[in-house]
Amino acid sequence: MEDTLVFYLNKQRIAIQNPRTDVNLATWIRQEAHLTGLKIACAEGGCGACTVMLSYHDPMHNSKIVHKAVAACLIPLCSVDGMVVTTIEGLGSQRAGLHVLQETFVKNHATQCGMCTPGMIIELYAACLNNQFGPCLKALSEIEECFDGNLCRCTGYTSIRDSVREIVLGSSQNLPETDEVTPDLCKRSLLAKITPPDVPAELEARHRLQLCFATPTGRWIRPTSLAEVLALRAAHPGAPLVAGNSEVGLLVNHGQQPAVQIAVTHVGELHGIEVDAARGQVTIRPGTTIAELQEFALGQLRASHQDKAALKYTRAQTMFNMTKYFASHNVRNVATVGGNVCNGSPVSDMLPMLMSFDTLAECTSKVGEEVVRRTVPLREWMKGYRKTALAPTEVLTALRFDFPGPQSHLPAAEGAPIEFCWAQKQTRRREDDIALVSGAMRLRMQRQGAGWVVREARLCFGSMSFMTLSAPRTEECLVGRDLADPATLEAVLASLRDEIRLASDAPGGMIRYRRVMALTFFYKFYCALAQRLGIRVPLFGGRAELRPEEELYLSEPERPQPSQTHFDIRTDTATVGQPLPILSGTVQATGEAKYVSDVAMPYDGTYGVLFSTKAHAKVLRIDATAALAVPGVVTLATREDVRGANCIGTAVHDEECFVPVGGLTPHVGAPLGVLVARTEEIARRAVKLVDYEEVPGAVYTIDEGIAAGKFIEQPFVQQRGDVEKGMAESAHLVEGVVYEGGQIHFAFEPNITIASPGEGDAMEILTATQNVSLSQRLVAHVCGCRISDVVVRTRRLGGAFGSKETRAAWLACACAVAARKVGSPVRLTVSREEDMLTVGHRSPFKIHYKIGFMADGRLHAAEFKVFQNVGCSMDCSFGILKRAVNHCDGVYYVPHIRATGRMVFANRPTNTAFRGFGGPEAMLAMECAMYAVAERAGIDQAQLRLMNAYRPGQLTHYHQLLETAPFVPMFERLIRDTHYADRKAAIERFNAEHAFIKRGIGMVGLKYGCSFESFFMNQGQSLVHLQQDGTVQVCHGGTEMGQGLHLKIAQIAAEAFGVPLDRVAVVQETCTLQCANTQPTAASSGTDLNGMAVLQACEAIKARLEPIMKEAPGKTLADYAKMAYMRRIDLSAHGSARPPQPAAPARPSPPQPAPARPSPPQPAPARPSPPQPAPARPSPPQPAPARPSPPQPSPPQPAPAQPAPARPPFYYATPELGEAGVSPSGEPTQRLFSYFAFGASMTEVEVDTLTGDYRVLQADLIEDVGRSINPAIDLGQIEGAYLQGLGLYTMEEPVWHPSGRLITNSPSWYKIPGWTDQPHALRVTLLPNSANPKAVYSSKAIGEPPLFLASSAVMALMDAINAARKQRGLEAQAPYWTPLTCERIRMLCAGDPCVAAIDEAYARQAQEQLAAGKGPAAAGEAIPPTFELPNQ
Ligand SMILES: Cc1cc2nc3c(=O)[nH]c(=O)nc-3n(C[C@H](O)[C@H](O)[C@H](O)COP(=O)(O)OP(=O)(O)OC[C@H]3O[C@@H](n4cnc5c(N)ncnc54)[C@H](O)[C@@H]3O)c2cc1C
Ligand code: FES
Ligand code: FES
Repeated sequence: MEDTLVFYLNKQRIAIQNPRTDVNLATWIRQEAHLTGLKIACAEGGCGACTVMLSYHDPMHNSKIVHKAVAACLIPLCSVDGMVVTTIEGLGSQRAGLHVLQETFVKNHATQCGMCTPGMIIELYAACLNNQFGPCLKALSEIEECFDGNLCRCTGYTSIRDSVREIVLGSSQNLPETDEVTPDLCKRSLLAKITPPDVPAELEARHRLQLCFATPTGRWIRPTSLAEVLALRAAHPGAPLVAGNSEVGLLVNHGQQPAVQIAVTHVGELHGIEVDAARGQVTIRPGTTIAELQEFALGQLRASHQDKAALKYTRAQTMFNMTKYFASHNVRNVATVGGNVCNGSPVSDMLPMLMSFDTLAECTSKVGEEVVRRTVPLREWMKGYRKTALAPTEVLTALRFDFPGPQSHLPAAEGAPIEFCWAQKQTRRREDDIALVSGAMRLRMQRQGAGWVVREARLCFGSMSFMTLSAPRTEECLVGRDLADPATLEAVLASLRDEIRLASDAPGGMIRYRRVMALTFFYKFYCALAQRLGIRVPLFGGRAELRPEEELYLSEPERPQPSQTHFDIRTDTATVGQPLPILSGTVQATGEAKYVSDVAMPYDGTYGVLFSTKAHAKVLRIDATAALAVPGVVTLATREDVRGANCIGTAVHDEECFVPVGGLTPHVGAPLGVLVARTEEIARRAVKLVDYEEVPGAVYTIDEGIAAGKFIEQPFVQQRGDVEKGMAESAHLVEGVVYEGGQIHFAFEPNITIASPGEGDAMEILTATQNVSLSQRLVAHVCGCRISDVVVRTRRLGGAFGSKETRAAWLACACAVAARKVGSPVRLTVSREEDMLTVGHRSPFKIHYKIGFMADGRLHAAEFKVFQNVGCSMDCSFGILKRAVNHCDGVYYVPHIRATGRMVFANRPTNTAFRGFGGPEAMLAMECAMYAVAERAGIDQAQLRLMNAYRPGQLTHYHQLLETAPFVPMFERLIRDTHYADRKAAIERFNAEHAFIKRGIGMVGLKYGCSFESFFMNQGQSLVHLQQDGTVQVCHGGTEMGQGLHLKIAQIAAEAFGVPLDRVAVVQETCTLQCANTQPTAASSGTDLNGMAVLQACEAIKARLEPIMKEAPGKTLADYAKMAYMRRIDLSAHGSARPPQPAAPARPSPPQPAPARPSPPQPAPARPSPPQPAPARPSPPQPAPARPSPPQPSPPQPAPAQPAPARPPFYYATPELGEAGVSPSGEPTQRLFSYFAFGASMTEVEVDTLTGDYRVLQADLIEDVGRSINPAIDLGQIEGAYLQGLGLYTMEEPVWHPSGRLITNSPSWYKIPGWTDQPHALRVTLLPNSANPKAVYSSKAIGEPPLFLASSAVMALMDAINAARKQRGLEAQAPYWTPLTCERIRMLCAGDPCVAAIDEAYARQAQEQLAAGKGPAAAGEAIPPTFELPNQ
């Protein structure tokens, strides 16, 4: 047997004798091959960051060369023998030149933080190679489908989609109407330019080799025949057969390496699909991949000449449906049908379907010399949780079932049997998600007169128990019944309800919903069948017919429209205002960009963190004896090693760097120490060391905290007017509560730090943080040294969204303590799971509202009570609370208003900053209240908003004057340009015509206060050097995390000096040596503060040059720089400070009162032709000629709208800020916010009311960015924020175990929006004519505000839900919780026989419990809520 692994990595031949059997390809490429382009962001196949392409002579397909994109973190290193592995480094580089795909990504602004970019590009590369020929639109669909496993947290996918379209069609904008291969299209398409890698001939023969790699820790054996597999299985009973490795790999990645792994990928007998047309049977060999099964099903459907509708309920279509939404393209490429069946997972997608087909499993083993075969019906396969009928020595060799072929049987002759199959899986996210419930059904019927009698029934369910279930009693109940008999449906639902039950404490929760869904699946199937068979079923709202798109899924998604953006390009500036691509776009696209995890350690000292596993327990003992005995473990650093203070924190020091022995753990995941080992794997293996004693009294939710009186600090109140009087004067009152769950940041790069001790007390920290100075201060604090002994550096962050604003500092502290103890560098990172748990989340909120309004809908009084779950310490929560309280008014003027905020303690990790910082949470409560008012007042939602929107000159509830307030024009523009009235009418028609699918539309407004609410934080730092060659070097206090800050800064400096951008170098590292006492790059203030500081430093240097320029006009900047140098003029400057100017803003003339009730918007006469989009995505200007001669510096001009510096200290401080208030004469005094960012959005959705599935059809966003410094960056921020907001409001839900453990701690369980969650049509407009004298070059903040625009989806969803409710005779509801997940949508729609059946069962149970005199219901007997509220 061969013991050497041979493959090519890009063009390099690799041969390794007995390679490691415990390492995956991604880890090996990064650690051993030192190619760091691919990223490991999850290590479980759930994000796509590690995508590589495998090219090889496929032994299962006649040695044809195939190219497969795969998740390298799930590919064993040993499995790539005979393959060419292409990583991003294999495509192009700065030195060798960029590949066309890389170029296109950069040009289209498709990279922000860059962590997903290499994976995206490789995915596209493989997809292009597999779709190079044939019609372009078909290629486009197939290529776009490949991205279902590639997540991006930053961009919102629009720019990535544009890049894909540009490659395939030569343009992202002009999608052809038909799929003809026109010469013009082919000419433009770049597909043909993409060439595959060479697959050397020597590799082909390797696929015939048997391999055996042996290492001290395990063996990897690759046989090539079934006989060998049987012998190996007999010799090593239970040893895993590694097929796609998507299950086995997860175990290995978690350190559970089996002693022997038998790779079955090269065994021909275990591969392929055979159709026996004569017997009407199909045999699937277990090694068939899910992608191949999908291909087979598609082939069968295409081969049939029936139309699509006729094939809808065939086995082929059912297989296609279930494989299409199985995992992601990358996983389907390798995961096998056999692996799925043998794994016996209760969430398996294949098992319910195959069981419903009456599949027989052939199990083969070797007993002595004899080969024994037995057949097991798959319905008897499952024996328990992940226990199957397969013996440890057996191999699954075939799955066989009847396959009548995809022919339609209608119209059927009397007595002729016909069959209908159906399968569906309901997930949180449409793509790459595990089923919340899955169902597969099959009925065989015979026509009898006017009826249809059931002869055979199969009903199977996944995710409804610890194993896949069938429902034999209900199946029996169906047999012999006539489907046309109305009693049949009733009987089946009742039977299913009693047969498929779920205990109230079943894992996965959502009990009522899941039970309802099991019934709903049958109901949907039945309705569709009835439709087909001509049986009249009364549906809702008097409808008796289903539209075809209602039968199975929500209508198939149409291809998203090209992105549309509208913005003005500035003409008053040269470089500022240009849509340039981000500075490090090129290195991000080539994989050369270095993140902290890519920095090679000088030697030794990797780590493992020791987190507590208990939420509220006394630490009795930390015994490191066993851990220290593990070879490679260096030491354990704990509280004992903290030389300075152990208490740390952001606002107050209320956290412990390490919980000491004898201390109390405040939450699961609290830090107890750092185990330092030679490798991360060793540290993780050795880490179990702690004894605890649980202490009762933990609180987890806001309600528990309120009940226990666990408040932090006093209430924070903002008030204007007399709220009690206002309420009394109001004609109507509405009240409600809005629950808002948290959100996990899921930045692709988890937190990470390298601490390197130097001489004496010196300590250098390389870390991924938004806040270098906080890390510097706290490291000094725990190390007991001077702040000036510590230097903190940050180069770039792989995304942050708030997760690295304060929480990175703890990691830096712990790492520094460990490094100080071992005296050498230590790298401390946290895994994806640890990051999701320990970093803290967006704070959950509970907000009560009470609104008083007049008969015409005018708001008169409002009261908000805001409760925030802050977790176990303050962190920056008070700032979040203040912002929430200050944003409760949304964009609406209320004469009498009060908002009161309270922070509630919980035994959870401390919650922290997250994009929006409390603003979106509070504004959502106001918008929900507006929804409730509109419903009660019977006023159109948009009209009510228009009527009550702030006008310029009005005061907020914190008494800040709104000098501008463009809400009315923005709302009017949305209403007009998006044809609101027409669409509303169309939606009503649609809803009347559809029984199950409903549409809705919603609008919200945005007013976001810009500046830190802690006044001292409104200062920025910069250091600018003019060099003697006339180039400008810029350092500033902000950090780059994909938001394009460095580029905007460079544009500002270039503009200030009047030089092209390539004359400016922004130092790509934020370092406390260059700029001290910096502020976090947060609150969207990065450009406002640092940009202004840079501008002022540039102005200071220019002012020093001025005399020389006057003296010798017409020279270049380099000449002036040299001259100044010779005259000993300082060519370096810090940003200069601005003294606060407390002058109150002049009050504009009082606003015109809002018209009592404005007339409803006139429907647009006919739908006008859509506004001409500006070039959808601003293309960067043509690159400047290679090295232009330095231009003339512009004569020193004051920057627009900036007063001249008054005195020369060292930073920029935002002027005029202070606590807003009113003078005795009623005039506003200072301003709390420097200015506001405004916006408005309108979203239209479509909902499947029977499953809760939904889709965003259209989103129109207007955002006020002032006069944009870089519209391409601003658009990217808006698109990304909208999708992240959509996640917050509709999908992302942290779920906690009652013991305080985070259940949703990986991408398997926590779903962020994916590729197809984008709105079908997304239109973004940058508000024109918006100047902002308060910020640099008249721009406005961009990072956070637009997130809230996604909340119009909540209003739209409620609109659709209420359309269903009203049609079903139920009362309309106001929204009161987010995320509005499929569970909540489905259960709110209600009013159908499935919900009625389950409700009836619970009502009966309640009565029985009452009659039995039972006290509090025992676990398993409790009545579950209609739907689960967010874990607040
Ligand atoms: C990101 C991700 C997403 C996923 N999404 C889904 C999903 O949507 N739906 C779903 O159902 N599953 C999903 N899974 C689970 C997994 O992909 C499937 O179960 C897959 O089909 C397993 O196949 P495999 O070839 O990768 O199995 P492997 O990991 O290679 O093997 C799994 C088990 O099967 C055994 N086995 C394999 N072949 C044989 C054989 N011929 N005889 C006997 N035993 C055998 C092995 O011994 C092993 O115990 C997902 C997994 C990941 C990582
Ligand atoms: S790191 Fe491999 S898919 Fe996420
Ligand atoms: S750019 Fe995609 S994750 Fe940041």
